[in-house]
Amino acid sequence: MSRLNVSALLIFVGVMGLCGLVGNAQTLRQTPTPTATALSPTETPPVTATPAGDAQIGAALFTTFQPEAGIACATCHRVDSDERLIGPGLLTVGERAATRVEDLTAGEYIRQSIIDPSAYLVEGYQDMMTKNFRKVFTDDELDDLVAFLLSLAETNKPL
Ligand code: HEC
Repeated sequence: MSRLNVSALLIFVGVMGLCGLVGNAQTLRQTPTPTATALSPTETPPVTATPAGDAQIGAALFTTFQPEAGIACATCHRVDSDERLIGPGLLTVGERAATRVEDLTAGEYIRQSIIDPSAYLVEGYQDMMTKNFRKVFTDDELDDLVAFLLSLAETNKPL
């Protein structure tokens, strides 16, 4: 009787295996979670973003209050459109950044805009962007902010 049960069990497992059920269950368990957490699944990684920069970290930095600066980027800039808040909206900044200043790539211009905002003034705006961001962010964090702002123009979609 017990030998019968064992055989029945073996047959059952065999059939499950043939149906792919056991295999599928294992595959499901072993499927690694996607590592590309910086982007939603529908987005492809931006091609020209600073390779060192992490756009998702940049997005977080952008909206985080920076005690040393006394403000967050997002207090003055929206990223879901190009409409003025206090500063210009930055949705397509990656596109216009490439032609703002001769000899500066889009990424270089955006970096300069953050650490030396007076170097180039966007037409129609006062020189009122916070001036001490160079001291607030590390080089890596600046890369992250640049990658984030470039990714907005490349996907051309709101967050
Ligand atoms: C006090 C408000 C204020 C804050 C805070 C601020 N900005 Fe600005 N920003 C401005 C204004 C005003 C301008 C337009 C004048 C100029 O060019 O400096 C500007 C310009 C820019 C530009 C150039 C846009 C273009 O179209 O060329 C970028 C990029 C930018 N800011 C990014 C940032 C980032 C990133 C932060 C946070 C680290 C930040 N800003 C924080 C007010 C602000």
